[in-house]
Order: sequence, then structure tokens, then C-alpha cells
Amino acid sequence: MGTERMKKVCIVGASGKLGQYMVRHALDRGYEVVGVCRERSVPKLAAFDGRMTIVPGPTNDPEVIRRAVAGCDGVLTVLVPWGVKQYASGTAQAVLDHARPGARLVFSCGWHITRDGKDRYSRTFTMGVRIAALLGKLVRAVEIDDQVEACRRVFAGDTRWTVVRGSTLEEGDSQGLPVWSRHVGDPVLAGNLTRRVDFALFMVQALTDDALIHEAPAIVGCRTPSALAHNTGNPHDHG
Ligand SMILES: NC(=O)c1ccc[n+]([C@@H]2O[C@H](COP(=O)([O-])OP(=O)(O)OC[C@H]3O[C@@H](n4cnc5c(N)ncnc54)[C@H](OP(=O)(O)O)[C@@H]3O)[C@@H](O)[C@H]2O)c1
Repeated sequence: MGTERMKKVCIVGASGKLGQYMVRHALDRGYEVVGVCRERSVPKLAAFDGRMTIVPGPTNDPEVIRRAVAGCDGVLTVLVPWGVKQYASGTAQAVLDHARPGARLVFSCGWHITRDGKDRYSRTFTMGVRIAALLGKLVRAVEIDDQVEACRRVFAGDTRWTVVRGSTLEEGDSQGLPVWSRHVGDPVLAGNLTRRVDFALFMVQALTDDALIHEAPAIVGCRTPSALAHNTGNPHDHG
């Protein structure tokens, strides 16, 4: 799909940090923006008053998503593993079920999600994910397994999807479009740090980049030492 055909986009999880950056990038591109967020988080979008439409409600509510994605050419979904009620998989399923056929669907998650099992993780990374998953389950606050399930459903579908896998994130001014690779463990990703604003930039840019359809790019900041060391003159490294 070319840029000229991307007119209206829905951002599911618009009130979060990543979501708000995506709203900004989408408005900058002149897109009509519809945002979905929990009712209590609507005030977090006050800065965009009059410039976007908000559909308040849980992002895993199929009826909320059905209304929000109506007529949208693209849907950007923040997949978060919060709670113990299959929030991530419910959110993904609602988007998969209700986005119009042919819409560009872009989902966010972290490096811990693997599409083909060929990612190579450090022992520290694997331990960190295991501990977070265990602690999260114990206090009934986080359900990492459910984010895995959400992505499994996206990968299995025949929609025009991209799953963007973020490294460790930091705040700060934009440094430009992150570089990406198909597999965690590739040297270009060793820097393991991306500015949130640039994660959002990659998500929004993916809407009009057909080369990213059916890809699960693992991203890293373009100014990290590893990205600079592997600079091939091409903004993407598709290892
Ligand atoms: N944080 C990291 O270091 C990191 C690293 C790699 C990848 N990622 C990925 O980046 C994306 C966003 O991460 P982020 O750190 O930037 O977070 P974020 O943008 O602040 O997003 C948090 C989202 O979770 C929602 N949320 C928070 N608590 C919730 C709850 N109890 N129930 C339901 N929804 C809840 C928020 O909605 P409200 O506004 O309504 O609270 C918001 O939409 C995710 O896909 C994550 O997997 C994060």
C-alpha cells in the first residue's frame, strides 16, 4: 500500500508512552487518527484535543475495537502483558477480527517474542524474561505467556501484519529510524537500546513499508554503536 492510500489509522493503546508518540507521528503525517484507551486514561490524550477521535474502553473489548477500526487503512496496536485476563491476546484477536480486510496491521512487543525460534538470546536476557514472567504471575500483574499467545495468533493469520520487536527502551529526542534485523543475536542489534520516540516512528513508518509485511523486525536505535558499526548505507539490516 502506498502512502497516498494510508489516510485513516487507529492506534490501540494510544494513551501510553509509545501510544502517544505514535499519535504524534501519525498526525504529523496528516493521517486521521482514532485512538483507543481505557476510560480512565482519556485525560492523558488532552494534548491532542480536537485533533483525534478517542474511543474509550478496554482494548480487548471486541465491540470497542470494532467501532474504533471502522474505515481505518492501518491499525497500530500496543501489545502489553498487563493483568491476568488475557489482555494482550484479547486485544490482538479483536484487531484481527475487526480490521477491514487488507488493512495494514502493526503490533508492538519486545525482543522476547520469537517468530521462528532462530533468535539467539543471552543467558542474562533469558533469565530476566523468566524472572519477570514468574514474578508477574505471582503478583497477578503481568502475563508474558499471553503476549506470546497474542503474537502466535498474529503470525498464524493471513492479514497484512508486522510485529515490531523493541529492544530495551529509553526516553530522549529522536535519533532517526531504528535499524532492524530478523533475529535477536545478530551483531547489529547488540546495542540493545532504542528511544521510545523512534520505536513509535518505526511502527508508523511500517504502515507504508510493504517490505515489512509478514516480518517481525527486531529493532535497535540507529545511533547505537552496534548499528553504527554495521552501517551498510542501507537504513535496514535484514540479517
Ligand atoms: N518498557 C520496555 O522497556 C519495553 C521493551 C521492549 C518492548 N516493549 C514494548 O513496548 C510497548 C509499550 O511499552 P512502553 O514501555 O512504552 O509502555 P507504554 O507505552 O506506557 O504502554 C503501556 C500501555 O499499557 C496500558 N496499561 C498499563 N497498565 C495496564 C493495565 N493494568 N491494564 C491494561 N492496560 C494497561 C497503558 O494504558 P493506559 O494509558 O490506559 O494506562 C498503555 O496503553 C509494548 O508492546 C512492550 O511490549 C517495552
